[in-house]
Amino acid sequence: IVGVFGYGGGVIGRYCDQPKLFPGVEHFHTMRVNQPAGKYYTTEYLKALTDLWDFRGSGVTNMHGATGDIILLGTTTPQLEEVFWTLTHDMNQDLGGSGSNLRTPADCLGSSRCEYSCYDVSALCHFLTNEYQDELHRPAFPYKFKFKLDGCPNCCVASIARSDMSFIGTWKDDIRIDQDAVNKYVENDPAYPANAGAHKGKDWGSFNIQKEVVRLCPTGCMKFENKTLTIDNANCTRCMHCINVMPRALKIGKETGLSILVGAKAPILDGAQMGSLLVPFVEVNADNDYEEITEVIENVWDWWME
Ligand code: HEM
Ligand code: SF4
Ligand code: SF4
Repeated sequence: IVGVFGYGGGVIGRYCDQPKLFPGVEHFHTMRVNQPAGKYYTTEYLKALTDLWDFRGSGVTNMHGATGDIILLGTTTPQLEEVFWTLTHDMNQDLGGSGSNLRTPADCLGSSRCEYSCYDVSALCHFLTNEYQDELHRPAFPYKFKFKLDGCPNCCVASIARSDMSFIGTWKDDIRIDQDAVNKYVENDPAYPANAGAHKGKDWGSFNIQKEVVRLCPTGCMKFENKTLTIDNANCTRCMHCINVMPRALKIGKETGLSILVGAKAPILDGAQMGSLLVPFVEVNADNDYEEITEVIENVWDWWME
């Protein structure tokens, strides 16, 4: 077991069992580096990181690992503290999680780029990362624990399948409908391409709202009659399908927040299992330090650690 002083996670020791045959990879430790929320970088930062890894490691990186971390693949034991020193002192950068601790929280880019985002995903990801530094660096849990955050149910970081606790943006009120824009889609107006123009290079035939939207709604809660689209919002599961197909006509509601799901895992024998809905709606409030969210997290941890 190898690591850096004061931390129990962030470094994964790897050794070759044929060091005589492969002396260059006798030690080949992996370091996990906490990626910035939304994975935004400056060129200057990336250059400093790759220069550091060329100098003190193999130069091979994995941008990004499945968890989202920047993964630095392959260095020797004496280099670990040196890399850690430069990251923390010169680059304002921390290691990520590994082992039985909180793994590096990962998020989609949320409201920084995406109109579907129901909360400021990067702000919450950044807050949780700072708030739970001890849990991230000092393994004290019975097993690993992952948070992932998605701004809406499109779930671009697949938080529903890949985290013990996922935070998925949602809304309480009604989907906003612009009936004129719905009819532009129905009339096949070229300025209103279905699916926001994705895959439009292929001829899919003309757009059919019944076939492509109404009949694909998983709960059958939509109707399009007399040029008017109606949604029975009480039965809408916020699956995003209709909004993804007609983004200029349909918008998420205005009373936004998030749902908390727990328990997704991927056991080798049973296969992937989705998280279960624990809290249907929580307001996302930075002003009270996300109290409603941290309360759920800490109660779950208390129960789990007993
Ligand atoms: C029972 C043993 C293990 C299980 C069930 C397991 C499972 C997983 C899963 C499900 C992921 C993907 C997580 C995600 O999508 O967020 C993952 C990531 C990873 N695992 Fe493991 N793992 C195990 C042991 C190990 C060991 C022993 C190593 C290395 C020596 C390792 C190295 C990694 C790495 C490098 C990643 C990517 C991390 C990242 O993206 O930040 N795992 N593991
Ligand atoms: S999960 Fe939703 S909010 Fe986040 S990037 Fe994907 S579509 Fe946008
Ligand atoms: S979001 Fe999904 S469930 Fe809700 S109306 Fe649209 S297609 Fe139906």
